Amino acid sequence: MSNLTIIDHPLLKRDVTILRDKNTKSAAFRITLRRIASVMAFEVTRDLKLRATRVRTPLESTRGYVISKEIVIVPVLRAGLGFVEGFLDLLPEAKVGHVGLYRNEETLEPVDYYSRFPASLSKGIVLLLDPMLATGGSGAAAVTFLKNKKAKRIRFVTLVASPEGVRRMRREHPDVHIYSAVLDRELNRRGYILPGLGDAGDRIFGTE
Ligand code: PRP
Ligand code: URA
Repeated sequence: MSNLTIIDHPLLKRDVTILRDKNTKSAAFRITLRRIASVMAFEVTRDLKLRATRVRTPLESTRGYVISKEIVIVPVLRAGLGFVEGFLDLLPEAKVGHVGLYRNEETLEPVDYYSRFPASLSKGIVLLLDPMLATGGSGAAAVTFLKNKKAKRIRFVTLVASPEGVRRMRREHPDVHIYSAVLDRELNRRGYILPGLGDAGDRIFGTE
């Protein structure tokens, strides 16, 4: 799948196993998700362009670097929030926008209820965060939302992707690259990813 990069790392494989485990409680789920987010942030930012600068050490002046474009992190509420702190650990200078979507469990169509973005959205590199890409309805709607607000450089960061979701994103937003820790087998009739990890928002916030 040309629009998908699976981040292959032993630490991710270990941590995804912890999240899949139905006996993992919310507190451990949140800590593990934050750790995963940091590993993913490292890989998703690997090709960022730098601008050279000068820095003064206690001894002399030397060459240094800053990231050339502003980074805007946009979690999809609620489950995307579980990724934010881990991304900010590596990108403390990033701005954070929010988009609130939930999936109508009968129609499986996304419903939007909140959005707020920094002014730099159109100029920066947007990292759209949502741990689950199932039918792709929420992810594709979030990207459309961002594009309507003039965002141009969007990367979609997820944890568990389904083949259906990846195909839908490629169909609706071929310009958006997806980064995921795993590509799972399929969706069940209720639109849940198999084997998956269940409802990510519920598991993060203990609302099952
Ligand atoms: C989950 C998840 C995605 C969406 C994925 O959110 O965080 O946003 O489902 O499913 P899709 O690809 O079929 O659209 P949910 O709608 O459960 O809302 P929540 O995060 O508030 O629980
Ligand atoms: N949303 C989730 O949180 N989990 C799934 O498996 C599908 C959609």
